[in-house]
Amino acid sequence: MTKIKDELEELAGLLRLKPRIAVLTGAGISAESGIPTFRGKDGLWKEFRAEELATPEAFFRDPRLVWEWYDWRRGIIGSKNPHPGHYVLANWEKIFPDFILITQNVDGLHRKAGSGNILELHGNIWEMRCTREGTILENRQTPLPEIPPRCSACGALLRPNVVWFGEALPAETLEQATAASSSCDLMFVIGTSAYVQPAASLPLLAAQNGAKIIEINPEPTPLSASADFAFQAAAGEALPEIDRAIGRFGLG
Ligand code: OAD
Repeated sequence: MTKIKDELEELAGLLRLKPRIAVLTGAGISAESGIPTFRGKDGLWKEFRAEELATPEAFFRDPRLVWEWYDWRRGIIGSKNPHPGHYVLANWEKIFPDFILITQNVDGLHRKAGSGNILELHGNIWEMRCTREGTILENRQTPLPEIPPRCSACGALLRPNVVWFGEALPAETLEQATAASSSCDLMFVIGTSAYVQPAASLPLLAAQNGAKIIEINPEPTPLSASADFAFQAAAGEALPEIDRAIGRFGLG
């Protein structure tokens, strides 16, 4: 407990300097909102096979099956709300002059909490993309009235605007995330197993460029041993705790 208190004070001291901050989030930050993660004991990839549901080959083989799975996930996500951890990050965007949020999550909860400066590395489950024209449209209907949905302009299949295994990340988004990671002073890594590339490399890039790494995750990850601060805690508890520490010490 004393160790955590000392660490919190040290971190609050760093935050007081108004550093350039990059935050990388993963499925774990949404866990306390009631959205299942991918790995771990109740993870989606324990119950479902990624190669049958989250690859372009799977989609073109059986678009109905893939859309049924996304429709089910949209149903779960649509009824969920951000928790205090999401709100702390949305507030930090307002109080720190150089702050960027990089997320692997497709659930849109950061935006729902009020964050605006977000790089969505893996896309967004509330968007659909025409497989012929590449046009992207927002669609928040759940359940979907027609599965698989089709483009109203050209009749081609629509797909979820998310990144599947074997696909490249949106180039400009990845470029911005890489630039932000290389130039930040502090990087928070929250709720990710640090397993999926290229997202998992961003904290390493930040560390190589001299940033301090702060991990928040109840379980150890490949990153934990080299992190400057590793808070083994849930995001919904640790983030408000860090925020309170900033409050106690002020932002100068
Ligand atoms: P994972 O499911 O791999 O990891 C979730 C992490 O969150 C684990 O390390 C958990 O220990 C941690 N965690 C659980 N509850 C938490 C809590 N309350 N607070 C903080 N951390 C908690 O999710 P990601 O690392 O995001 O990609 O997975 C990366 C990508 O793999 C996803 O974007 C998705 C998936 O396949 C695609 O779909 C392309």
